[in-house]
Amino acid sequence: MITQLLNKEKAISITGLGYVGLPLALEFAKKFKVIGFDINEERVELMKQGIDPSKELEASAFAKCDIQFTSNIEDLQDAHFHIIAVPTDIDAHKVPNLKPLESSSKAIGSILKKGDFVIYESTVYPGCTEEDCIPILEHQSGLKANSDFHYGYSPERIVPGEKVRTLTKILKIVSGSSPEALEVISSVYGNIIEAGIYEASSVKVAEAAKVIENTQRDINISLMNELAVIFDKIGIDTNEVIEAAGSKWNFHKYRPGLVGGHCIGVDPYYLMHKAKQIGHDPQVIAAGRRVNDYIPNFIAKKVVTSLIELGKNPGACKVLVMGITFKEDVSDIRNSKVADLINELKDFSLDVDVVDANASKEEVLHEYGIELKDKSTGPYDALVIAVGHKEYRVLRLEDLNALSKDPLLLFDIKGILDLGDLPNYWKL
Ligand SMILES: NC(=O)c1ccc[n+]([C@@H]2O[C@H](COP(=O)([O-])OP(=O)(O)OC[C@H]3O[C@@H](n4cnc5c(N)ncnc54)[C@H](O)[C@@H]3O)[C@@H](O)[C@H]2O)c1
Repeated sequence: MITQLLNKEKAISITGLGYVGLPLALEFAKKFKVIGFDINEERVELMKQGIDPSKELEASAFAKCDIQFTSNIEDLQDAHFHIIAVPTDIDAHKVPNLKPLESSSKAIGSILKKGDFVIYESTVYPGCTEEDCIPILEHQSGLKANSDFHYGYSPERIVPGEKVRTLTKILKIVSGSSPEALEVISSVYGNIIEAGIYEASSVKVAEAAKVIENTQRDINISLMNELAVIFDKIGIDTNEVIEAAGSKWNFHKYRPGLVGGHCIGVDPYYLMHKAKQIGHDPQVIAAGRRVNDYIPNFIAKKVVTSLIELGKNPGACKVLVMGITFKEDVSDIRNSKVADLINELKDFSLDVDVVDANASKEEVLHEYGIELKDKSTGPYDALVIAVGHKEYRVLRLEDLNALSKDPLLLFDIKGILDLGDLPNYWKL
């Protein structure tokens, strides 16, 4: 297989060309013949023009790539090594939404041939590939896993906004349905991953490894968030406490913050779902999620009580929220907890303006019904720096005063500014 792929007698297909699938497809396309498949025709049209619809990659990333973009599954007939990187989100009840995985498995099953490989990259719970996806491939293709075709799981570990540790520079976990399959999968990925390959002992181990990376992070941040709530009531600075505690070698310096996005705030629900399925009611993971989801409400209450302490009527106050993406220096707004914070503020009858030059106005309106302002039209009763974008990190006191009524009331959620001893300044 690897020789045929390298000789371009066979092609690699990548299904789901989003934040994960497109960079992966382009990286493979530097050495292999690649067919990129996505059901979203608009996105496919943009990619054909060398435009990344997720706005992460420059046009230069498309150069010297042997890649064909398509929304027609029939175009994948020439592909024999299939990678699936479709979204794995949760529904309104926080239950895993496997529909994209199921429909993409059905599509790949329809063009699957003897000897083919299918590798899943989407984040799932342990067991999902073999219990939920492979039966669909078998049913749709009429082929038998392991005897007719091979499969594997290789989680993606890229971090949104991370410019140094990019796809090829992150150790890649791979797993396979048999030792022979694993050998092929390792060698295919080994051709593009500079950081090396980690061969997991089974598909379930690889699935579990990915989901606990993000679950551990969620829980660690939730502990800091809970501590931030406690220390706020005590009246001490959480970051000062973390710095002091961090002077011990085995203290891990996690920071409090809003936990949003499509990974850390979502993946724990996949693990919880599996745990419940097999008769275990998870306590720690669930508590972590609850604490992190409570933080927008905690911050909104803080804004309101601070306004009241200044003798203001919140219902007559105007607040500026700066930043709505789920983390700093990215354009991704999926599962942004700033949107929750804005809604909480509005529930308290505050008039809220929101700015974020990193985010798309259309996407924010479509996703949250929130209208982004091009420019802030102050003066405001309170300023909330919700995301640590680089343009906010350089704000000076005079910039903030220009936006604010007197006195300045500043909520610097991530504590990105160092403005000395400022009255009416709050950070998480
Ligand atoms: N974004 C990250 O940084 C990141 C990091 C690690 C892991 N992951 C995981 O990778 C997976 C993909 O995430 P993403 O951020 O790239 O998602 P995304 O939303 O950016 O992209 C998914 C793409 O899949 C397409 N798609 C949806 N259903 C499809 C189908 N049935 N057939 C073909 N295409 C389909 C969409 O049109 C979209 O272009 C998820 O499981 C996610 O948890 C993401």
